[in-house]
Amino acid sequence: MPSLRAFILGLALILLALIQLSATSPVPAVDAADCKAPTPTLPSKPVATTPTVPTVTAATPLPAAPPANQTLQYVALGRGVQNYTCTSIGSAPVALGAIATLYDGTALATANEAEFNSLPPLAVYVANPKLPASVASLAVLGNHYFAADGTPTFNLSSKGKILFAKKNGDVAAPANANKGPSGTGAVDWLQLVAKPGYATVGLQTVYRVVTAGGNPPAVCPSVGVISEQYAAEYWFYD
Ligand SMILES: *[C@@H]1O[C@H](CO)[C@@H](O)[C@H](O)[C@H]1NC(C)=O
Ligand SMILES: *[C@@H]1O[C@H](CO)[C@@H](O)[C@H](O)[C@H]1NC(C)=O
Ligand SMILES: *[C@@H]1O[C@H](CO)[C@@H](O)[C@H](O)[C@H]1NC(C)=O
Repeated sequence: MPSLRAFILGLALILLALIQLSATSPVPAVDAADCKAPTPTLPSKPVATTPTVPTVTAATPLPAAPPANQTLQYVALGRGVQNYTCTSIGSAPVALGAIATLYDGTALATANEAEFNSLPPLAVYVANPKLPASVASLAVLGNHYFAADGTPTFNLSSKGKILFAKKNGDVAAPANANKGPSGTGAVDWLQLVAKPGYATVGLQTVYRVVTAGGNPPAVCPSVGVISEQYAAEYWFYD
């Protein structure tokens, strides 16, 4: 039978091993406020519990939450391009629209929000995201594009839902946001809401946050349409 001393020594070694294990964990560092126990079900009050839409500190931040009668429906990883029109070399690029595939990250954001938040800066560098093995199989939720009249549209075709949107809030991405493959910087974080008079189904609000890439160059390098690679998180509420 081991002595008390050997028992205590064994216990100490196990604790040390556990501490080392947590110190070398691949999960990126998060603020203490984000260190919440994972929960397998979506909350009914999304901003008060896990997962919560990331926020950015700014003079006029995005509305932190949609109206209390809306709840989180889906969290998507968007991967695509932001397009700009250039009328002459050296002129300022003008936003034209975006095209992106929306991957369903709802379960991942719920189970491991920090890991989900680490995806846009990785996905922006790879096509049809070749994501880390643990999340390589995110299902396609739908797609994002601009309708012919310029309306930002989110067609969550796998769920039979669609949002015809208009911008309701706009704030620059944090200074440390990933600048994307061409180094032009991350597109703004946005809140968009359903555009009145359009046939939106089952969605009312979406946030675009944790953006990576997508900004235009400062001046047009050529004439025509420029496409900038981008990735972002989209949080949908209804
Ligand atoms: C939800 O709340 C908003 C105010 O925040 C109100 O204008 C709207 O009518 C409410 N919608 C429903 C379906 O209750
Ligand atoms: C949404 O996507 C589905 C599947 O691709 C398509 O059948 C449908 O026409 C799309 N809706 C709109 C309004 O683009
Ligand atoms: C945006 O650019 C891509 C090519 O990168 C093109 O396939 C797409 O049609 C363009 N969309 C618009 C609205 O210009």
